[in-house]
Amino acid sequence: MHSKTLANQVAMPVLGFGVYQMKEAQTAQQAVYAAIQAGYRQIDTAASYGNERAVGAGIRQAIADGLVTRAELFVTSKMWVADACPERAAAAINATLDRLGLEYLDLYLLHQPYNDVFAAWRAMEAAYEKGQLRAIGVSNFSISQLANLSAFSKRKPMVNQIEVNPFQQNQALVNYCLAQGVQPVAWAPFAEGKHDLFQQPLLAEIAAAHHKSIAQVILRWCLQRDLLVVAKSSRYERMQENQAVFDFTLTLAELTAISTLDTGQSMFFDHADPAMIDWMATRSVAYE
Ligand SMILES: NC(=O)c1ccc[n+]([C@@H]2O[C@H](COP(=O)([O-])OP(=O)(O)OC[C@H]3O[C@@H](n4cnc5c(N)ncnc54)[C@H](OP(=O)(O)O)[C@@H]3O)[C@@H](O)[C@H]2O)c1
Repeated sequence: MHSKTLANQVAMPVLGFGVYQMKEAQTAQQAVYAAIQAGYRQIDTAASYGNERAVGAGIRQAIADGLVTRAELFVTSKMWVADACPERAAAAINATLDRLGLEYLDLYLLHQPYNDVFAAWRAMEAAYEKGQLRAIGVSNFSISQLANLSAFSKRKPMVNQIEVNPFQQNQALVNYCLAQGVQPVAWAPFAEGKHDLFQQPLLAEIAAAHHKSIAQVILRWCLQRDLLVVAKSSRYERMQENQAVFDFTLTLAELTAISTLDTGQSMFFDHADPAMIDWMATRSVAYE
C-alpha cells in the first residue's frame, strides 16, 4: 500500500475507505471487511456516522481471519461537535475506542471547527501523549482556524481533512496546509456524484485517454496534488477500481484542464454559514 509520512513520522496510506452514510450495522461491517479484502488499509469513520461498533467488528473480523494485522491497518475516527468541550472530550475519545474495540487509533480528528476546539485539542494532545492516538488532526478547518489552533497549541494538527473534488478544489487551503506541514486529506472526492460528476465531459475525455474511469482520474488528480484521499463505495468491484490508480499519470495539461472545473463552492454546505453552525450545535447524533 502506498503511504505518506505525516509530520510526526507516522505513515498514512494515501487511499482511504470512507464509511459515511453506512448506518446499517451489517452493511458497514461487511463493507469494511470487503474493503480490507480489496486491499484498503486505511478506514475512515467518525462518532457521528453512527457505525463505529460495526466498523470495529469488520476490522476485528478481518484481523481474526488473517487478512491483515492491526499494525498493517490505519484506522481514523473523529470527535463530534457536542463532545468538543472540557467536560466531554476525553471521555469521547475513550468511548470511540470502546465502540471500535481497538486499543489505539492511528488518527483522530476534530470533526468540525466548532464548540470549544481548544479544550477538544488539549484532550486529543493528552491522548496522543498516552499512546491512545498515533496521530491527531482536524477536519473542515479554514486557513485562519488552522493558524489559530496551531499558534496556541503545543502540537500542530498533523492532518486537515477537507472537501476536495473537481468542483470544489480548495487550492488555497490545500497550499496552506502543505506549506505548514499539515497533510490535507480530501473527503467526498466524487462529490457523492453530485453535479453529474460521473458524466462530466472533460473528465470523461481524460479518462478515455488513459483507459481509466472518471473515478480513477479524480483519485489520481488528488494524489498528484499531494492530497491523500478517502472515498466511499459499497460495491466490491468499485473498491478495487478505486485502488487501481498507480499505473498512470495525468499530464500537466490534464491537471490544468481539470483546474477549470473549480466552482469555488462547496457541493454540500458552507462551513462559515451561521445557520449550519446552529444546525450542528442542535443536531442530535446517536453514536453506535
Ligand atoms: N470530514 C468530513 O466532514 C467528511 C464529510 C464527508 C465525507 N467524509 C469522508 O469521506 C468519505 C468519502 O466521501 P463520501 O462518502 O461523502 O462521498 P464520495 O466518496 O465522494 O462518493 C461516494 C459515492 O460515489 C459512488 N462511487 C464510488 N466509487 C465509484 C466509482 N468507481 N464509480 C462510480 N461511482 C462510484 C458511490 O456509490 P456506491 O457506494 O454505490 O459505489 C457513492 O454514491 C466518507 O465516506 C467519509 O469517510 C468526511
